[in-house]
Amino acid sequence: MRKKIIIGNWKMFKSNKEAVEFITEVESKLNLNSDTVAGIAVPFTMLSDARKAAKKLVISAQNCYFEKEGAFTGEISIPMLKSINVDYVVIGHSERRDIFKETDEMINEKNKALLASGLTPILCCGESLETYEAGKTIEWVKNQIVKAFKGISEEDAKKVVIAYEPIWAIGTGKVATPEIAQNVCSEIRSIIKDIYNDNVSQAILIQYGGSVKPDNISDILNQDDIDGALVGGASLQVESFLGLLK
Ligand code: 13P
Repeated sequence: MRKKIIIGNWKMFKSNKEAVEFITEVESKLNLNSDTVAGIAVPFTMLSDARKAAKKLVISAQNCYFEKEGAFTGEISIPMLKSINVDYVVIGHSERRDIFKETDEMINEKNKALLASGLTPILCCGESLETYEAGKTIEWVKNQIVKAFKGISEEDAKKVVIAYEPIWAIGTGKVATPEIAQNVCSEIRSIIKDIYNDNVSQAILIQYGGSVKPDNISDILNQDDIDGALVGGASLQVESFLGLLK
């Protein structure tokens, strides 16, 4: 049985103080079973304090750079994240791809470097509304997945968490139906099977993200190939975040 993994992506919201208060309050009310991983992806400035405050939640960064060190003004390396015990790192979020022009090749470098360092990548993929309406979702996502896993061993591939986030469902309130989400996540599992084998494809965790809320999360998580959710807006308030974990 695969675990469930529910991660809140805070994007560029909240202060350090708010992050620590949030974690303290959530953890005082949280009863997690051993089959569920829950956590938050916070901005870089909050990672250290969030990591120290969190006992039950895992803490994720929202990005990283793949070089160990060097003249890369404004970037944060994986050893830096490791030194403060960050657990997960989101890579290839559509906002990074679209606004900051990250390429599939950069995301592949990040994926490889994270796995080599023992951190867990949460690798995002997903299509635009235009691609969705053109019926090219699978083709698009396949290209992103194949490129992201280039040069990654079977053993390492199993450790990656894939997050399927259709761009048209992010922050729009327009959630993909559980059937649409299941269909794409099942296709992603077969793409992984084609690259590796059945063993890897059955082990790998696949999340859905895009307008997930406390009132629609159970229908989504009930789908066979969906192992969790990556949640933006609904992860920012304590009650709503706890509602996602019920
Ligand atoms: P929303 O849940 O706000 O739609 O955001 C989804 C997302 O981008 C998570 O990474």
